[in-house]
Amino acid sequence: MTRGIFVTGTDTGVGKTWVSAGLMVALQRQGMRVLGMKPVAAGCEQTPDGLRNEDALLLQQHGSLPMDYTVINPYAFGPAVAPHLAAAQTGMHIELERIARHYQTLAAAADAVVVEGAGGWLVPLNERESMADLAIRLDLEVILVVGLRLGCINHALLTAEAIRARGCKLTGWVANTLDLRMSKLPQNILSIQQRIDAPLLGVIPYQEGLCVEAIAAQINPCL
Ligand SMILES: Nc1ncnc2c1ncn2[C@@H]1O[C@H](COP(=O)(O)OP(=O)(O)O)[C@@H](O)[C@H]1O
Ligand SMILES: [Mg+2]
Repeated sequence: MTRGIFVTGTDTGVGKTWVSAGLMVALQRQGMRVLGMKPVAAGCEQTPDGLRNEDALLLQQHGSLPMDYTVINPYAFGPAVAPHLAAAQTGMHIELERIARHYQTLAAAADAVVVEGAGGWLVPLNERESMADLAIRLDLEVILVVGLRLGCINHALLTAEAIRARGCKLTGWVANTLDLRMSKLPQNILSIQQRIDAPLLGVIPYQEGLCVEAIAAQINPCL
């Protein structure tokens, strides 16, 4: 059976995309065929081929096999605003079933699919459903990326509680160093570790030039 992993984060801009790509490479190093998915992306650029998002392009680039962009990113919006607002602005409606069909195409071709959310766990997709509903609809295990900055302990614990409240499996969490100068970095990591009921899968150091291979080396994807 294909392993489906949903990568959520404590917020937007916490490292979900880079950790997702790193996780893809870490799984590939275990001999798996891996594909990435960014079901909903806001903040896309108009290109001759259509709207393109840099997160989705990075995940496409790290796939084990070539895959059409529109399968990887079925919903691409120009404005960099919350997905349900971006959809409304462009006269669209995000449908979980459409995402599920594309996900099945990826799952049929790979041993593992890494699905990157947009923003955090409860970001709305339409008037009724959220990212959490998408993870449930696709039956994905969840990995939480914690962007290490002031406030992250609360955000990490809130998100972990919300994931569990929906009955999802929280496979683990990844600590991502966003700011070298953050004080009490190890103590922050330990404080989360002592309170979250999921294993720490890796600590990603701060990197001036982000490198997917280096991130992959810091992640334990076995669990
Ligand atoms: N480990 C890191 N070291 C240095 N900068 C990082 C690191 N992780 C993330 N960043 C910075 O944060 C930005 C947001 O990361 P990204 O993976 O796009 O977050 P998200 O997908 O959660 O929005 C990156 O473009 C980079 O500038
Ligand atoms: Mg991203």
